[in-house]
Amino acid sequence: MQTTGSITFRGAELVLPDRVAEGDLAIEDGRIVAIGRVERAIGEEIDARGLTLMPGVIDPQVHFREPGPVHKEDLETGSKAAAAGGVTAFLEMPNTNPPTTTPAALQDKFDRAAGRCRSHYGFFYGATPDNAGTVPDPTGVPGIKVFMGSSTGTLLVDDQDALEAQFAGASVPIVVHAEDETRLRARKAQFAGATDPAMHPVIRDVECALIATKRAVDLARRHGKRLHVLHLSTAEETDFLRGLPPEGLITTETLPQYLWLDASHYARLGTRLQMNPPVRDARHGEALWAGLLDGTIACIATDHAPHTLDEKALGFGKAPSGMPGVELSLPLMLHAVAEGRCSIRHVVRWMCEAPAHIYGIVGKGRLVVGGDGDVTLVDRKAQRTVRADDLHTRAGWSPFEGWTLTGWPTMTVLGGRPVYRDGAHVDGVFGSPLRFAHHPKLPPLPALSATAAQ
Ligand code: DOR
Repeated sequence: MQTTGSITFRGAELVLPDRVAEGDLAIEDGRIVAIGRVERAIGEEIDARGLTLMPGVIDPQVHFREPGPVHKEDLETGSKAAAAGGVTAFLEMPNTNPPTTTPAALQDKFDRAAGRCRSHYGFFYGATPDNAGTVPDPTGVPGIKVFMGSSTGTLLVDDQDALEAQFAGASVPIVVHAEDETRLRARKAQFAGATDPAMHPVIRDVECALIATKRAVDLARRHGKRLHVLHLSTAEETDFLRGLPPEGLITTETLPQYLWLDASHYARLGTRLQMNPPVRDARHGEALWAGLLDGTIACIATDHAPHTLDEKALGFGKAPSGMPGVELSLPLMLHAVAEGRCSIRHVVRWMCEAPAHIYGIVGKGRLVVGGDGDVTLVDRKAQRTVRADDLHTRAGWSPFEGWTLTGWPTMTVLGGRPVYRDGAHVDGVFGSPLRFAHHPKLPPLPALSATAAQ
């Protein structure tokens, strides 16, 4: 379902691909038609002086649970949370029930999303030991998700022949949950009966992640196929990926949780902090920041993985792994700008341009004339404290409750139509399926210029 409109923003701080500049931006019938000075407003005119206009955020890793355990989230509630957080497009994971491992299951997700999602959508195809080469249409699929180690759900491919077949047959990038299943099983047995959530990063240790990342990189390079390593969580993997030759094959991402939280938070948050791969010692967070800033890590995702507080209360060993995040990733990264950790250009690079580039998402991720009119207006000075009652995720909680963040979205626009404004969703505005023009080898994005990094 395509819903487009026209709107003009006046006097905003515009985060453009090559600079940050004050100006106007007009969207007509869903497309950006003018940037700079707009003589005659098109559509509704918004006074955006003092505010920042950026491309809509693309969250390239979320779990919205539909079909399956929709008591945690569904496509409607998850996408509403996304829209409230300035996210105009999301890529959703296949570990639903049933999992998205057949063309029919993929079509079912598109059918469910149409007319319900408040953000544009794409769905990963899930790898199984025997479904290599079955992606129906590469232009409709961002990638094939391979769980190399088991996590939430039933998906797992750790047999070498099955992995070789997946890479050989891939017509879209392969994205991996990189934890080594063999080591994982051995560590779980070794620490069976552990009750302290702080044991999570001890059991699912650095080695577990590093072995799998190295194995996936070896597969991708031998097959000459694109690989995206999901949710990078360790200094060691960052160093390993930094040292690879620039072949345009391997990319990676990290998550705000790994940047803002560390193992010292298990004492307060308990199983709420439990996720796979785990939140680890603070040295990893510092290494991930360095990896983002030097370009080793290309983008930010959330791994939005809603579970209820009742489920989390089952205790370590029984509680599921994962935490919600889609709604707060932009405020958390704007807060990083306010704290001087990075620039607004970095945020747009990591959360808009890079995800669009990696997955070849047509028309998205940049404020350019001719681009899609998916934009987010933010107030970089607004301060608000995160409260569970204000969240839209059905899971209804966040590990960041009580944090006061500086920098919040005030309006989210899909194809020139506000979908979220003044703290409420706008009726009748829905996203549409994303299209993907995959690069067999990814050309590098231009380096962020010194002037742009403000
Ligand atoms: O913590 C996690 N939760 N990691 C995953 O890989 C899956 C996710 C989920 O779906 O709950």
